[in-house]
Amino acid sequence: MTDLRTELGEAVAAAFAAEGVDTALARVTASDRPDLADFQSNGALAAAKALKANPRELAAKVAAHLEGDARLSSIEIAGPGFINLKLSDAALAKRAAEVAADADHSGAALVAEPRKVVIDYAGPNVAKPMHVGHLRSSIIGESLKRLYRFRGDTVWGDAHFGDWGFQMGLLIVATGDEGKVEAFMADGDGPFPAESPVTLEDLERLYPQAAAKAKEDPAFRDRARKATAELQGGRAGYRALWKHMHDVSMAALQREFSALGVTFDLWNGESDADPLIPGMVDELRDKGLLVEDDGAQVVHVARPGETRKKKLADGSVIEAPSPPPLLVVSSEGSAMYGTTDLATIKQRRRDQDFDLVLYVVDERQAEHFEQVFRGAYLAGYAAEGQLNHLGFGTMNGPDGKPFKTRAGGVLKLHDLITQATDKARERLKEAKLGDDLPEGEFEDIAHKVAVAALKFADLSNSRTTSYVFDIDRFMSFEGKTGPYLLYQAVRIKSLLRKAADQGAAPGPIAIVEPAERDLALTLDAFSQATVEAYDKRMPHVIAEHAYRLAQSFSKFYAACPVLIAPDEATKGSRLALSKAALDQLEAALNLLGIDTPERM
Ligand code: ARG
Repeated sequence: MTDLRTELGEAVAAAFAAEGVDTALARVTASDRPDLADFQSNGALAAAKALKANPRELAAKVAAHLEGDARLSSIEIAGPGFINLKLSDAALAKRAAEVAADADHSGAALVAEPRKVVIDYAGPNVAKPMHVGHLRSSIIGESLKRLYRFRGDTVWGDAHFGDWGFQMGLLIVATGDEGKVEAFMADGDGPFPAESPVTLEDLERLYPQAAAKAKEDPAFRDRARKATAELQGGRAGYRALWKHMHDVSMAALQREFSALGVTFDLWNGESDADPLIPGMVDELRDKGLLVEDDGAQVVHVARPGETRKKKLADGSVIEAPSPPPLLVVSSEGSAMYGTTDLATIKQRRRDQDFDLVLYVVDERQAEHFEQVFRGAYLAGYAAEGQLNHLGFGTMNGPDGKPFKTRAGGVLKLHDLITQATDKARERLKEAKLGDDLPEGEFEDIAHKVAVAALKFADLSNSRTTSYVFDIDRFMSFEGKTGPYLLYQAVRIKSLLRKAADQGAAPGPIAIVEPAERDLALTLDAFSQATVEAYDKRMPHVIAEHAYRLAQSFSKFYAACPVLIAPDEATKGSRLALSKAALDQLEAALNLLGIDTPERM
């Protein structure tokens, strides 16, 4: 199924080709003057320059090839040589009917060659509290996962749980010091208690204390380092205690993420890649990639000549390789963050045999990924271009620094959702929405409004820009917000329910009024929006489309009575358009990870 803009693009390209012009110039875009045309092609200007021809004459010749195309109601040459195209009402009606009938994709084209894609996002850690980087990663990653799947790829969302680092050693030593876990501290093979000796509250209390202590107390830090190494080395009691901490933390995180509508296909942790590390280290050595550097084992990933100035401890400045070497084995013999990431690529090669891996992670980790990806390409674990880091800007507080919760502390997903839901409840009551509904349903609506507000605020910004957290603005039912979009969707649902009560049903679509044309054109544009969002890995393109669709519907609804349409055929057509708009709006919102309530 092809959208009209793409079809016209092909027709215009053929017309350019017939005039001996490079078809790359034959782009068709939405018209700058929607009052005059639906689409335009400016290609004749550049082409005429290349051919040393008169642009208006060339445009006229190209246009002549399009005469008689039943999809077009007018073809005009404007200005210095623009070709303006207006679609026939019949072509628009046919396309709108196609979109309406496409229950699964609302008219969106699928990828020609589906790929196997792993999306690595959220990346929460055992015990270590989350920050806004984790929140944005979760929201953006979830959206991309849905978008890639929607377009036909096979996709695995992986939380890449941070369960293997120094924080685990810290926690083991800290719980040990509290004295409740003797059985696990014993240096033997067990058996160890099956019941977890730690609760989530223990972990949340202990981690910040232990992290602070490690900063001040070198002896404590060294014990934690040693515990980390022993854990990784396989000490049975530590592993058993670790497993409890891992499970307790994971269960809590899964609950929090699912409250945000974020779910994963895989909860693989850094620890899962650990068994692959020894073999990988041997392999890197055999390939001649691993070199000794000051007691550590590294892989040089900079190409000859790639350097940057680096200041040494003695104050002298040298040209150091850039990116710096990838640290694989530390001088203490431990695996590092980059080591587990490299081993995870090997693991994903084995388990998913991916075509593509997208890492939705804080921009601050850009260099880390550059090192890891280069290492993986050198080792042959992935082909150049298969690994991509998608960075993003930060969500800032009013002070322009990364957002913190009211208590001034780090972000807790649960608190954020609670705060947003309180606000949503307040707003709904002010707007007299849902106040006549049963309590349970009202709560569900408030939760959906809260999640929609948070996610839409995030995803309506381009991934790479930073934005300011402003819950009052996010929660408004007016303007470009999640709640506004939910409200529009609910309005259409209510219209369709009323129609059904009156026994009215959607019928064949006819396009007559300007507002109907605009709605049909907008429905047609969804396919291109999904393609662009997918190619650029930018969910805001979908957010834009959802907003444009809601507005277009709103204008249509104001201009074209549905339930009191002048005749039954018009009513049937308008109901079909309304239903198509709702389906597409819900599809778009779903791609953003947003659920719509039935009523409010
Ligand atoms: N756990 C890491 C952190 O909190 C993020 C993990 C990102 N993914 C990855 N494959 N390294 O910073």
